[in-house]
Amino acid sequence: MSRRIVVDKNTKSASKSRRGNQFDYSEIYRQLRTNIEFSSIENKVQVVNVTSTTPNEGKSSVSSNLAIICSDKYDKVLLIDCDLRKPVQHKFFNTTNKVGLSNLLLSYKDKIDIDDETYFKRYKKNTSAGKLYLLTSGSKVPNPQELLSSKRFKRLIEELKKEFGFIIIDCPPISAVSDAIPVASVSDGTLFVCSAKDTNKKEAKDALVQLKRNGVNVLGCVLTKVEDPSNKKYGYYYGGEANI
Ligand SMILES: Nc1ncnc2c1ncn2[C@@H]1O[C@H](COP(=O)(O)OP(=O)(O)OP(=O)(O)O)[C@@H](O)[C@H]1O
Ligand SMILES: [Mg+2]
Repeated sequence: MSRRIVVDKNTKSASKSRRGNQFDYSEIYRQLRTNIEFSSIENKVQVVNVTSTTPNEGKSSVSSNLAIICSDKYDKVLLIDCDLRKPVQHKFFNTTNKVGLSNLLLSYKDKIDIDDETYFKRYKKNTSAGKLYLLTSGSKVPNPQELLSSKRFKRLIEELKKEFGFIIIDCPPISAVSDAIPVASVSDGTLFVCSAKDTNKKEAKDALVQLKRNGVNVLGCVLTKVEDPSNKKYGYYYGGEANI
């Protein structure tokens, strides 16, 4: 089995400390958190969205593990599943997706109540210590892009910024649909995930050009599924410069 950071069924934490000569992957995520924090001196990075070129490159895994690591440090951390077409965060966190972002977008007035567990599912286990909240994608909608491009979505993110110290948004890939572009536009920065195993270099370059053309602030690239020649297992690397 490939070795990777896994959110276990009880959402305890990213694979933890060094066992034998196993690598401490949570340390990589702490480093990623630090790199994000230092990526902009002028403007605080509070909302980060995660996208990639094509499906299956590891976006959702990076998003959930980063959220868990951030909840070690920040007072309130929110993970939003903005992949309205193929949501998985509710499965990672072993919860339902009957109600979530799409429903909140249609129903919220002005004030957001983050104690409303219908929308904001709260994790009180281990490292997250009650500080990690999950907003699942919610009911399937016929027009995800329209919803994510709406003024309402932008306003919602502004409201959530008042409540949470850090917000991580899991997005679909760029090549399939353009949903990630409007989400990136309301985020402070974008993490671009590439898989050492799957990503086509030219397609990734095109996706990055598309993001930059839309004025997106690409913070850097997280390389997943990197084969470790010493043990033939897979891991992560982070590059601050999104030059592929
Ligand atoms: N660093 C990694 N090393 C090895 N396998 C990984 C790694 N990260 C994720 N995976 C595996 O790759 C698959 C896709 O992961 P994930 O759902 O996180 O990707 P995704 O980019 O969000 O996919 P999608 O585009 O479908 O939303 C899963 O089987 C996951 O376990
Ligand atoms: Mg995903």
